[in-house]
Amino acid sequence: MAVSNKKYNVIDLKTGKLDSRIFSDPDIYREELEKVFGRTWLMIGHESLVPKVNDFFHTYMGEDRVILTRDGKGKLHAFLNMCRHRGNPIVRTDVGNTKNFFCPYHGWTYSNDGSLEYVPGEEEAYYGAVDRDSRSLIAARVETYAGIVFANWDSGAPSLEEYLGDARWCLDVAFNRLDAGTEAIGPVKWIEPLNWKTAVDNCSDNYHVPTTHLSAILVQARHFGLPRLTHEAQFESPSKHLFINGHSLTMRMLDRPDQARQTHGVTQENRSLFEEYYRSTLAEAERRLGSVRAGKLQLGNHSIFPNGVLGLRLAHPRGPLETEFWHFVVLEKGMPDELKRALRMGSGNYNGVAGLFEQDDMDNWRGVSRSSLTPLAQKYSQDLSMGVGRAGSDPDFPGTVAERYTSENNQRSFYRRWEEFMNAESWEDISIEPGTADFEGTATMNG
Ligand code: FES
Ligand SMILES: [Fe+2]
Repeated sequence: MAVSNKKYNVIDLKTGKLDSRIFSDPDIYREELEKVFGRTWLMIGHESLVPKVNDFFHTYMGEDRVILTRDGKGKLHAFLNMCRHRGNPIVRTDVGNTKNFFCPYHGWTYSNDGSLEYVPGEEEAYYGAVDRDSRSLIAARVETYAGIVFANWDSGAPSLEEYLGDARWCLDVAFNRLDAGTEAIGPVKWIEPLNWKTAVDNCSDNYHVPTTHLSAILVQARHFGLPRLTHEAQFESPSKHLFINGHSLTMRMLDRPDQARQTHGVTQENRSLFEEYYRSTLAEAERRLGSVRAGKLQLGNHSIFPNGVLGLRLAHPRGPLETEFWHFVVLEKGMPDELKRALRMGSGNYNGVAGLFEQDDMDNWRGVSRSSLTPLAQKYSQDLSMGVGRAGSDPDFPGTVAERYTSENNQRSFYRRWEEFMNAESWEDISIEPGTADFEGTATMNG
């Protein structure tokens, strides 16, 4: 690492040189669990996964097992899945509905609001000396954005609204378009031998698409009549590559307001049905988001810091060289079933575990992660120099906008943000960009 009074100085914004040890060093990994995953707002699920009182959904924050519950009054909670007696996990299933969680080791029993309700032998074995109030389940802060549930361990962190900041201006286009809201289907889960950051970084890598995904692009061109994506098309694209308040986004322009917003799952056969759907919902979307966001913009590939990968899809860290992917599909509730099915299948076929695009990507991410292992390879920096000095403000978009759609500005900025968390003593040392975006329309954090 370069000389600096800060512990981490892994990315040089002027040259784009990146220290590759961040992809495999076990000590760095251990520290990022604490300083990144222990401090940030993390997506842990969706309200539709726990629709009824007493529902629960088992999830993760970093490597920590977490239970998302909806208590008897309908309030959401996120608890560390760890009994306060000897640390045994009290939930072993993925989903369920219960008022109480019973630890299978010695039987301590908790309410779904986290309180310790029953201790076997409380009088006889403990002589009445158990202070149950101090042994509630460990709780994280919980907040939601358009039905997506986030949690945070750090009491010093800003609100989720501040944390998302103007990135929400872009995210609303996909996740907050209609009054009825969205539902999440999934997750499909799989484990890959790669570092989680390679997948997050790739969400803004428009450069790789014509090369890595050539075979998939040919399939799309031949069977779905889509234009063949080339480097030239990527270099000339008017789409935007934006870094906003720590989050990496890309935005595409719609040719027409009724154009299908999705790239995967839309075919020659169903395209007119998608167009009809977007025509019929346009007025409502304009009321909620204003005419620009409702009819002119489409959310492209993006990542929410730290480990959101293309929407509510998660790259859970499982070690420096292991990542567990959770693939959800978020669908507008009122969309016709035929279109929901097309999007669910299309999303899985392209970005699911056996997806055409995902398989191509994972091979590269594995390669990049593993080549950072040896002392010889670690002497040579990775090169993220594309578009250095070619990003700034844009009158029509929030954040820092690259001059071209194909740029490595978001990737450099992602590692700079990671570095900021790794060097910070607390949230006092972590920046939040002041919001400047015009949130035209009625949509809010809560839908
Ligand atoms: S570890 Fe849970 S009751 Fe003992
Ligand atoms: Fe890709």
